[in-house]
Amino acid sequence: MPRTLSIVQIGRGQVGSRLVAQVDAARAAVIEEWGVDLRQAMVAGRDDGPDPGAILERAARTTPPPRLFVDATAAEGMAPVHRQALLAGFHVVTCNKKPLAGPLADYDAIQSAARTAGRFYLFEVTVGAGLPVIATLRDLRDTGDRVATIEGCFSGTLNFLCTALDADQPFSEALRAARDRGFTEPDPRDDLDGQDVARKAIILARAAGLPVEAADVRREPFVPVDRGEEREGFLRRAGDHDFALRERVRAAASRGLRLRYVARVAPGEGCRAGLTEVPDDSPLGRLAGPENVFVFTTGRYHHHPLVVSGPGAGPEVTAAGAFADLMTVVRAVARGGNGAPEA
Ligand SMILES: NC(=O)c1ccc[n+]([C@@H]2O[C@H](COP(=O)([O-])OP(=O)(O)OC[C@H]3O[C@@H](n4cnc5c(N)ncnc54)[C@H](OP(=O)(O)O)[C@@H]3O)[C@@H](O)[C@H]2O)c1
Repeated sequence: MPRTLSIVQIGRGQVGSRLVAQVDAARAAVIEEWGVDLRQAMVAGRDDGPDPGAILERAARTTPPPRLFVDATAAEGMAPVHRQALLAGFHVVTCNKKPLAGPLADYDAIQSAARTAGRFYLFEVTVGAGLPVIATLRDLRDTGDRVATIEGCFSGTLNFLCTALDADQPFSEALRAARDRGFTEPDPRDDLDGQDVARKAIILARAAGLPVEAADVRREPFVPVDRGEEREGFLRRAGDHDFALRERVRAAASRGLRLRYVARVAPGEGCRAGLTEVPDDSPLGRLAGPENVFVFTTGRYHHHPLVVSGPGAGPEVTAAGAFADLMTVVRAVARGGNGAPEA
């Protein structure tokens, strides 16, 4: 008899719906290989109720352990819900960066709930989508390496825009293409004001053991963003930025340089993110489309840094990254008990 792992998921948008389909397609193979039956007990959207905490409470009453909570929303205010899930005995996989990048006290409370409850709290796809970025950082730290800097292009969306601008495409057209392909955040202003990159820098910094707050990140927006207006109004006026960005890209190109949105995390220096001119034949200048690159310079990887790169956005690869986190829980459940992480 296979063991059943009950999955309670909130969010069934681009990533959430792909995750449901991927889990469904792999279900028989996971039973065969691991003896664990992935049962999608609940896949909730906003129309199931406005309060994710209430949805979770309902799920906690109706699903037996071992159980897993998946946050595939971009909702605000989810930190207490993640904590509540862990304390109710759920493992947690999150695609949502916000609970990890808010006040440090919320982050610490989540990590402490995971330790107290003995449950996994997994967040690989919050940085670099399906790329093994958090896993790489964890392995470096677990093996006693010292991280000196993490630098690179952390946003597939902004890199997609940068390479479209290199090809002389107007910014407004490139932004529309990025939205059509599912690369942007639900509100693209989260990408354009640099907030999404800043959140990733905070998550990386915290995972590297640095106690940073949002105020410690210096960020320059990709374009000026007005939060006071409606999202659709902002998108209609995206063409207002076409000329200035085209001039900036052309001026850089005349000097053999390209514009890239570069972020840097360094102990002692804090975090920063902004449009930066880089040589067109450098690793950052050569990045194309929705690619990300993360360059880890450490005590061991000093002369030749450790580089993780590849597509850093897109619902299919993001869902696959969340599925890989889910498989970490499956392997632990297969070993017995409630799937608690090994001490
Ligand atoms: N797309 C990517 O390439 C990518 C890459 C890395 C990480 N992520 C992260 O993955 C998450 C999901 O992204 P997405 O592209 O799938 O966004 P999306 O298509 O907008 O989906 C978000 C889903 O969450 C639901 N939702 C929002 N607030 C909710 C609430 N309070 N209760 C229940 N459901 C709620 C939405 O419901 P409604 O449809 O009713 O609004 C929607 O179904 C985000 O946190 C994003 O940052 C995405």
